[in-house]
Amino acid sequence: MQSIALAKQALRASAPSKIFARSLATATQKPVLLKEFKIYRWNPDQPEEKPKLQSYTIDLNQTGPMILDALIKIKNEMDPTLTFRRSCREGICGSCAMNIDGQNTLACLCRIDRSPTKNTKVYPLPHMYIVKDLVPDMTQFYKQYKSIQPWLQNDNPPTQGEFLQSIDDRKKLDGLYECILCACCSTSCPSYWWNQDEYLGPATLMQAYRWIADSRDTHTEERKDRLQNDMSMYRCHTIFNCSRTCPKGLNPAAAIAKIKLELAVE
Ligand code: SF4
Ligand code: SF4
Ligand code: FES
Repeated sequence: MQSIALAKQALRASAPSKIFARSLATATQKPVLLKEFKIYRWNPDQPEEKPKLQSYTIDLNQTGPMILDALIKIKNEMDPTLTFRRSCREGICGSCAMNIDGQNTLACLCRIDRSPTKNTKVYPLPHMYIVKDLVPDMTQFYKQYKSIQPWLQNDNPPTQGEFLQSIDDRKKLDGLYECILCACCSTSCPSYWWNQDEYLGPATLMQAYRWIADSRDTHTEERKDRLQNDMSMYRCHTIFNCSRTCPKGLNPAAAIAKIKLELAVE
């Protein structure tokens, strides 16, 4: 019995080193898979220099699977001046929105194309002022979001307990409340490109509808009145670029169509 116990102890002691040796062997066995990334660079501290695409080549077998992993590797190991936003790394904060190979999306949810012969181009969100490299200036976007007063407004809220909704009324908010305000949709919208000063764009309009559709909100008419003009909403031509690009699978174009319907039946 004692010899069996001793043998088990010896096995336990050797296990971690065996695992370590195996993982080391796997890591060293992986072939190098080089991939070129061409990344938009612009530095406001060097205004005389034009924006450019800068090339970085990394081994995909030494990085995580997502574009954000590649950007973090480049910043950590090759070029600390590369600037981009990120926070949650799981499609929740919306801060890593950028244009990757022609599509607005979230870098943390976008898988790297592992074809070594094809480079990947990364630009900031289109038609935005740029703070630096991949960081767009979101001032106007947030100003527009604020303009729709994105909070519950009710002149007679319950004095006690919860603010209840029926199950059906609550369902009307599905597909709206999940928006993470990444701006991928608005910056893919041609109308938003050309009329950003006045047209609110799909992200903000979907949130406008989110509050119009909320059964607990009693300021529906004021909300609708604010959109009843030539520019705020009617610049939408229902081309659906916004819904095609949304990395959360939402449908802002449909929300805008519903606002138009609400305004039409007044
Ligand atoms: S609707 Fe989609 S693309 Fe537009 S801001 Fe929300 S999450 Fe981003
Ligand atoms: S459907 Fe409307 S909001 Fe969406 S991309 Fe087209 S014009 Fe823009
Ligand atoms: S890092 Fe938060 S959405 Fe990508």
